[in-house]
Amino acid sequence: MPESEIALFSEQYWDRATEVAARLREQGPVHRAVMPNGLPVWVVTRYQDARAALTDPRLCKDADRLNEIMRGKLAAAGASTELLSIFSKHMLMADPPDHTRLRRLLAREFTARRVELLRPRVAEITAELLDALPAGEPVDLVERFAFPLPVTVISELLGIPLPDRAQFRHWTADFVQERSELSLPASRAIVEYLTGLIAAKRAEPGEDLLSALTIASEDGDKLAERELLATAILLLIAGHETTANLIANGALYLVQRPELWRELAQRPESVPPVVEELLRVDGPVRMSTSRFTSEPVDIGGTTVPEGEVVLVAITSANHDSDRFDRAAELDPGRGSGHLSFGHGIHYCLGAPLARLEGEIALGQLVRRFSPAELLVPAEQVRRRHSAIMNGIEALPLRLQAA
Ligand code: HEM
Repeated sequence: MPESEIALFSEQYWDRATEVAARLREQGPVHRAVMPNGLPVWVVTRYQDARAALTDPRLCKDADRLNEIMRGKLAAAGASTELLSIFSKHMLMADPPDHTRLRRLLAREFTARRVELLRPRVAEITAELLDALPAGEPVDLVERFAFPLPVTVISELLGIPLPDRAQFRHWTADFVQERSELSLPASRAIVEYLTGLIAAKRAEPGEDLLSALTIASEDGDKLAERELLATAILLLIAGHETTANLIANGALYLVQRPELWRELAQRPESVPPVVEELLRVDGPVRMSTSRFTSEPVDIGGTTVPEGEVVLVAITSANHDSDRFDRAAELDPGRGSGHLSFGHGIHYCLGAPLARLEGEIALGQLVRRFSPAELLVPAEQVRRRHSAIMNGIEALPLRLQAA
């Protein structure tokens, strides 16, 4: 099918998303589309509009209203109206002043210092996972490295006891699927498990973030039980597949450029700026989470009516040539400015941890192994069919110790 006819989120879209986004940026500032679950949305594709939309208070998040709007639209489209609204009482689904309060209570505990303290453990977990990879044999780096690393790190951060980790990892793997027959039972199991864990942390607090959150308070304000649960779940969702995609997409990029792989191995100080550009060039998040218009909003000259669902196309904005010269090229010297962690009040609270994990994971990978052999042609590496996340299904490689 010619690229000019490929619709957003259609069957042909996933492996040609970059070209489709380039065409849409050219054609206009906002585009109507239907998400894979049947939800009609408006998608913002250009950098300046995207940045403005992420800070526009008329693009709201309030969970109850948003769920109501989405249910109405799904029902009108004849699609299933089952939404995972048990999870909505967290900051990413809230507007000020609720958002301000929830974010402040987490930010006080999830500090740069707590993240820095994790550095040696992240390095250790990375080394253990890489040690377990067989040299000279086919290995899927997504399954064996990119996914297990972030979920192990979050488990440590939240203080999930060691014996529960394997079960927990299994649930989270199902949970991040967009297929409801897998994600619904897994999400129920996670809620039940975390409810018990929170009670245990209350009774006997440890050094972990979850314990800290059970006691955290500001001017006597505390997270209610339901908010605590929702915050724990948000950390889990927000920090899992996103970071996995950073590692997997980054490894896919490097495996196709052996000279860059070697350079990073020899000059560890060049890893952080390259990771920053990998976040822009093949970012982990395709679209922002949903927002709704609380009144008609002008986006780049097009009016989006009130009560519509709007998504910001982050990967598209990051490739906008009006903002980034030779946008498709990785240029570690260009500095930041990408929207991969969002922008405005919902800017990713986990960005320091995500960068730390990305830098350690890719840094160790290139130092311990010589440039890997990709076992399929690069164009056969399939993208996951996810409207929100931008990741690959599998990365079959052969590794040899450096
Ligand atoms: C929010 C990206 C890793 C915690 C966000 C948003 C983006 C994002 C784009 C804003 C979404 C929107 O406005 O619709 C990423 C990427 C990551 C990553 C690309 C990895 C490379 C993490 C990690 C954590 C985390 C590791 C924590 C463990 C959060 C939280 C929010 C958030 C709590 C909500 C902030 C708020 O609503 O105020 N992230 N994230 N993220 N992220 Fe991340």
